[in-house]
Amino acid sequence: MGTFTPSSEAASLTRAPHIQRSSTPVTVRLSDFAGVPNIPDNDPNASPRGCVIRFHLDEHVHTDIVAHSVDSFPARTAEGFVEFLNALIATDFKGPHPNAIEQYLGGHPAALAFVQAPKPFPTSFAKESFFAVSAFKFTNAKGVSQFGRYRILPVADNEYLDDSAAAAKTPDYLFDELKERIGKGPVKFRIVIQLAKEGDITDDATVRWPEDRPQLTLGEVSLTAIAADNPAEQQRLIFDPIPRVDGVEASADPLFEPRANVYLLAGRRRRVSGTTVG
Ligand code: HEM
Repeated sequence: MGTFTPSSEAASLTRAPHIQRSSTPVTVRLSDFAGVPNIPDNDPNASPRGCVIRFHLDEHVHTDIVAHSVDSFPARTAEGFVEFLNALIATDFKGPHPNAIEQYLGGHPAALAFVQAPKPFPTSFAKESFFAVSAFKFTNAKGVSQFGRYRILPVADNEYLDDSAAAAKTPDYLFDELKERIGKGPVKFRIVIQLAKEGDITDDATVRWPEDRPQLTLGEVSLTAIAADNPAEQQRLIFDPIPRVDGVEASADPLFEPRANVYLLAGRRRRVSGTTVG
């Protein structure tokens, strides 16, 4: 739990309510891979890790940024993502090559790039970067719109472990470290927007923009405490990748709608049964 404070340049990009206020309360959820609840923090499959920032704008009014620790996604559409998952499910990792996933990756370069992207173990959640991957359309008070992509960057800088150091860690090393760290002082992230240039593709999460695109600092999140009712909150929270707030819109990226639907479905099941899907 903590607060978001906008930067002085944020209003040039968006008229969103949390940019017009001096500070806004936030809830941040940090997670191992796609919210899978019991995966050990030091499991090689626990990445990409997740970071969701919920801005509390009013009672029962909020907007979220859902981000993960790899700046790409394996498929352009939900159908493509299901194909990727089905290839993984069909793979006999001990069987002959090329197996199902190797065959799939051979014909899908974006999925191959995602699988091959480095996913090192962070020393701390406070030292990891997160990316919302899809593009958003930001509109300022003058009605000027620009496309951009969120990055959530640690003020404490990135720091990673090598595989053998990670293997020696405890299964909860990241969550334990976070509790200890936040007891000593605030955990801070900068929210930065990578701005699109005229002509950049804004509706395809598998296409990255060149690294030299300008970056605007939207503001800083400062986290000061773990939620008092943390386990109950985790069962209750349902995040939404679509901002649904004036001044920030989802782009035409086809991942947005199916994600919003599936997160709602998964969250409702979790509220009822105390379990998760995904
Ligand atoms: C069509 C594509 C996608 C599908 C079908 C999908 C599916 C899911 C599902 C089922 C969950 C679990 C939700 C829950 O239990 O509440 C989840 C969580 C999550 N997804 Fe995705 N996802 C997709 C794309 C993405 C992308 C592009 C990102 C990158 C930003 C992403 C980041 C996350 C994160 C960070 C979580 C954990 C959220 C939390 O803390 O509750 N997902 N996803």
